[in-house]
Amino acid sequence: MSFRPDSTSSLVSPSISNGSFSGGSPVKLGIMASGNGSNFEVVAQAIADGLLNAQIQVLIYNNPSAKAAARAANRGIEAVLLNHRDYKSREEFDTQIVQTLQQYNVELVIMAGWMRLVTSVLIDAFPDKIINIHPSLLPSFKGTRAVEQALAAGVKITGCTVHIACLEMDSGPIIMQAAVPILPDDTPETLHARIQIQEHRILPQAIALLGSRE
Ligand code: GRF
Repeated sequence: MSFRPDSTSSLVSPSISNGSFSGGSPVKLGIMASGNGSNFEVVAQAIADGLLNAQIQVLIYNNPSAKAAARAANRGIEAVLLNHRDYKSREEFDTQIVQTLQQYNVELVIMAGWMRLVTSVLIDAFPDKIINIHPSLLPSFKGTRAVEQALAAGVKITGCTVHIACLEMDSGPIIMQAAVPILPDDTPETLHARIQIQEHRILPQAIALLGSRE
């Protein structure tokens, strides 16, 4: 059993379909998270439920207090703390990330709430194999305050995007998006909570879409 892009809901739109891995074994994932880790959790749960043919090799987190680390521990998933404050440059930090991902034989990298800019060191090590989830309908509202920006702009619909990461922040080919209406009384918190419901739907689907083996 596996996720299929859900195009019956008009609010979800997949735009890439390429199974670029060979063989039928689970795709080996490396997940990078900085904070809460709810997206990490839904991917782990989708795998546990047999809905996603993948395996989480390692969680990399950069904040010692990231709740994502506790979530990994609860599930018996290996977690590695790489604290960006311990490195002299972004490149040096990314070099350590790449080494860790390679050490765990990661094939597909998921930035699930990774709140650091990445460099070519990481992007070039996994060409077209790094995906990011962002809480807006890209290319609108890039950056860390996407939800607040959507509210401030007065748009009536926002949403979330899963895309292939490239050097430019919150850019790169879009894999899947889901739309979320903005309600008159929305605060950043209420809106983000509804966006996250959609993130949790589309992230496992997008991984299935990109990571499906031919
Ligand atoms: C999500 O809204 C994601 O789009 C953004 O950071 C948030 C991470 O949430 N990049 P969580 O840590 O997975 O709960």
